[in-house]
Amino acid sequence: MTRLRPDHRQILRLSSALLAGFTLLLLSGCKLADVFSLNGNQSTMVTAGPVAKSQWDLFMVTVYVCTFIFVVVGAVLAYTQIKFRAKSEAEEHAEVPAEAGHGNPFVEIGLIAASVALLVIIAIPTLRDIWYTHDVPEDEKANAMDVTATGYQWWFKFEYPSEMVKQPNGGEAPLVTGNELVIPAGTPIRVQLRTVDVIHSFWIPKLAGKVDMIPNRGNFVWFKADKPGYYYGQCAEYCGDSHAIMRFRIIALKPSEYSRWLENQKLPARTVTAPSLAAGAADTAKVQFASLKLAPGEALAASPQFDEDPLAGWQRDQNPEPGENPALVAAGRKLFASKTCISCHTVRGHEGIGITGPDLTRVGARSTIAAGVLENTHERMHDWIMQPNHYKPGNKMWFGGYNVQNGDEWKENFRVTDQEADALVAYLHSLK
Ligand code: CUA
Repeated sequence: MTRLRPDHRQILRLSSALLAGFTLLLLSGCKLADVFSLNGNQSTMVTAGPVAKSQWDLFMVTVYVCTFIFVVVGAVLAYTQIKFRAKSEAEEHAEVPAEAGHGNPFVEIGLIAASVALLVIIAIPTLRDIWYTHDVPEDEKANAMDVTATGYQWWFKFEYPSEMVKQPNGGEAPLVTGNELVIPAGTPIRVQLRTVDVIHSFWIPKLAGKVDMIPNRGNFVWFKADKPGYYYGQCAEYCGDSHAIMRFRIIALKPSEYSRWLENQKLPARTVTAPSLAAGAADTAKVQFASLKLAPGEALAASPQFDEDPLAGWQRDQNPEPGENPALVAAGRKLFASKTCISCHTVRGHEGIGITGPDLTRVGARSTIAAGVLENTHERMHDWIMQPNHYKPGNKMWFGGYNVQNGDEWKENFRVTDQEADALVAYLHSLK
């Protein structure tokens, strides 16, 4: 075997590192076209609304200014390196000459003036954007919609304060959803940001850049989706065990579709019985996704069919599923009440008044569960119920088993069997 020269070995090492990096990129599911267009589910570079667009444009202004500085300084540096280099052995070892003077005042003042000019070029759009992103523009205010987003370890609650619904106790409260915020496209959305525990951060890369949810302090962000679409959000402030998988979705619909969605959301939970199924038999069949086989520790992802067109996937999830079994659904509902799920979750119109976990009145119509981490298929929900701690380490309903609160104490952990989980899945998936 021939021995490689050290510099050849270095080149070989560098190129294999590059190749490994590139392969990793492809293996991680990045499409080549997405890599080169800088697009992706959570890309801030291909934007889908005016707030994110203004932030991206501002970023590019700084990139242009910095590139200009880099080129000018680099060129001057290269020029002096070449022009003033030692041209002989004698010059290289010559004495350093005594200081000749204090520089050139014209160059110094010129550099200060140039720096100021460059900073002003950055400052003008910065101030304009601070103003723009601070609140919905005056001329759009009348058309704006308010929602409240609250961070929990580790999920997001969304409330629609202008949409009141009947509560189990007979009163009224704003409509609540969990982890998936549905909005009309083209409408400015004003989001009040709150948290019940630690600092979280609300970030929808394609729609608006990170704003923190701070304990005991109201915060605020607005955004608008230009077109209907399915947008990926993420908590962007370290908040404990499952911070990295504290995700959410924004589903922007055409205004007419949004009204229809809202109307259905405001109804009490759907109840499946044999007569109700017979009456709704004309419902369009739901496409079933191929199940994902996720080994312990494997990466979390949605099925390729879902990723192909997430908005269409979400729309399919709105329909009742074929083959619903009223007896199994009823058994699941009974378990939901008896297994104490109701102390943390609400199913409006059925049992449950809990507010520490997400409202589940229409959980079957969400495209994801576990705060945007798992696609909402039967298999995934079954896995989630059986071992929530595998998918969301540190989550509050599980501590070696499901928690039961007894006064101020948590005690008596219990688990559910496979058959019980099947019934619970049938019930939860019937909640459309
Ligand atoms: Cu919530 Cu990080």
